[in-house]
Amino acid sequence: MAKTFKKIDFDKYFMPDLKKARSRKQSAVVYNDCFTIPVNIQGYGKNKNAYVRTYGCQSNVRDGETLKGILEAIGYQIVDDEKNADLIILNTCAIRENAEQKVFGEIGFLKQLKVSNPNLIFGIAGCMSQEKHVVERILSRCDNVDFVIGTHNIFRLPQVLENVILSQNTVVEVWSKEGDIIENTPSYRDSKIKAWVNIMYGCDKFCTYCIVPYTRGKQRSRTKEDILAEIHSLIDQGYQEITLLGQNVNSYGKDLDSKLKFADLLDEVASLPIARIRFTTSNPFDWTNDIIDVMKKHPNIMPYLHLPVQSGSENILKRMNRVMSIDQYLSNIAYIKANIPNVAISTDIIVGFPNETEEEFQATLDLYDKVQYDNAYTFIYSPREGTPAAIMEDNVSMDAKIDRLNRLNEKVKTYAKANNDKYVGQTLSVLVEGPSKTNPDVWTGYSPNWKVVNFPGNVTPGSTVQVKIVAANRFSLMGELVEN
Ligand code: SAH
Ligand code: SF4
Ligand code: F3S
Repeated sequence: MAKTFKKIDFDKYFMPDLKKARSRKQSAVVYNDCFTIPVNIQGYGKNKNAYVRTYGCQSNVRDGETLKGILEAIGYQIVDDEKNADLIILNTCAIRENAEQKVFGEIGFLKQLKVSNPNLIFGIAGCMSQEKHVVERILSRCDNVDFVIGTHNIFRLPQVLENVILSQNTVVEVWSKEGDIIENTPSYRDSKIKAWVNIMYGCDKFCTYCIVPYTRGKQRSRTKEDILAEIHSLIDQGYQEITLLGQNVNSYGKDLDSKLKFADLLDEVASLPIARIRFTTSNPFDWTNDIIDVMKKHPNIMPYLHLPVQSGSENILKRMNRVMSIDQYLSNIAYIKANIPNVAISTDIIVGFPNETEEEFQATLDLYDKVQYDNAYTFIYSPREGTPAAIMEDNVSMDAKIDRLNRLNEKVKTYAKANNDKYVGQTLSVLVEGPSKTNPDVWTGYSPNWKVVNFPGNVTPGSTVQVKIVAANRFSLMGELVEN
C-alpha cells in the first residue's frame, strides 16, 4: 500500500548528517558480528522474489551482494528482473549528479509496479541514502518508497524490514557514523567464477570534489585474518579470480595496529592457490613500487593497474587535494611498464574542474600522450553538495567542459585501439566467463591484462583457455581457440 505523507517531521527520522559524516575521531574501529535476523522476519521472504539493482562502483556492487545475501537468508528468492519482484532495492551511487538523476527517474518509473502489486516493498540503499537532500526529497515526493537504509546500516536490513512491515511511515535508518566492520553478513555472489573481496571500507582522502568519504565513512581496514579466511572459502568454492577492493588500496593497513602494508598483504594473498588476483583502486599518491616487486614475484597477480590520475596539471591536482608530482607519477609509470610485461594501465580523469584553464586541460592531454593509457573513464566535474569544490568559483562554461571531454575522449579512443592492436597475432590466456552479451555465438572472457576477448568454440565457463588474437577494436579483441 502506498504510504501517505502530508507534513513531514524530519526530526523523527534517522536522517543523514553531513557534518557528522565528515568527522574523523581517533576511536578504534569496532569489528563485530552483530548481524541477526529478528524472529518476526525469519522466513518472511519465503515464496517471494527480491530484486536488487546496483549503481556505481565495485564497493557498491559488493554491498549489493551483501543485501542480496541478507534477503536470501530471510527466505527471498533473488531474481534479476524487477517485474515479478515482491521487494525491490535500488542500491544507489552519489558520485555525480547524473547518477542521482537516473535513480530518481527509476523511482518514478517503479511507481507503476506498486499499482499492479500493492504489497511490493520498495527500498533505497547505497550512497544516495547518506545524503540529507536526497532523503528529504524521497520523504516529501516519493510516496512509493518504503524504506531508506544507509551504507553503514546494511547489516540491519532485517530490522529495517521488520519496521517496514509494522509501520505506516517510510522507514529511514541512516547512520552518519564513521563506520564499523561487520564480519558476519551473508553474501549472494553474482558470479561463481570471479569474486570481490573488500580489504577496506571508507576513505579518509577527502579529495575536494568527492562525496565518498562522507557517504562511506572513515577508512577501516579489515584484518588480514578475516581477508584470508574469506579468500580460503572462495578457493574452496572453486573461484578462479578475486579482486581486492578498496577506495584507496595503497593505504591499506595504515589504520591497523599491525600497520600491515598493502604490498605485504598482496604478497600473502598471492601465495594462496588462486589463479587470478586483481586489486582496485590504486591511488597514485600513495603508490609505492614495492607493489610492483610483489607483482613480479607472483604470476597469479594480473598485469593490470587502474591508477586514476584525474588531471595532468599539478595546480588542479593541488586544488583537488591530490597533491602529486607529475614527474613522480611518470617515473612510477615507467617503472611499472619496465617491470611488468604486457601491463595494461587505465585511469580516471575529471575535466572542467572549477576554473580549469585551457592550458591546465592541455596538461592532461599531454600526460595522456606520455602514458598512452589502455583505457580511461572520463567525467565532467559534477559539484557535490557539501564538498569543498562545490563552493569553489567556476568560470568554465558547460560548453567548454563538454568540448574538453570530447577532445579527451578522442584521445582515449585512439590509444585504446592502438594498445589493443598490439595483441593481434599474440596468444593470450583467457578466463572464460560465458556467452558474449552482444553475440551469443561467441564466448567472452578476460585476458590477464583485462582485455575482453571474444572467440567461438567449445569451452566451459570458468576454464582458462589459450586464444590467438586475430582482430582488435577499441573495446575488445577477437580470437581463435588454440587447441592444447
Ligand atoms: N577512490 C577512487 C575513485 C572513486 S570515484 C580513487 O580515488 O581513485 C571514481 C571516479 O569518479 C573518480 O576517480 C573520479 O574520476 C570520478 N569522480 C569522483 N567525484 C566526481 C565528481 N564530483 N565529478 C566528476 N567525477 C567524479
Ligand atoms: Fe574520493 Fe579521493 Fe577517496 Fe577516491 S581517494 S574515494 S576520489 S576522496
Ligand atoms: Fe558511487 Fe558510493 Fe561508489 S558514491 S562510486 S557507489 S562509493
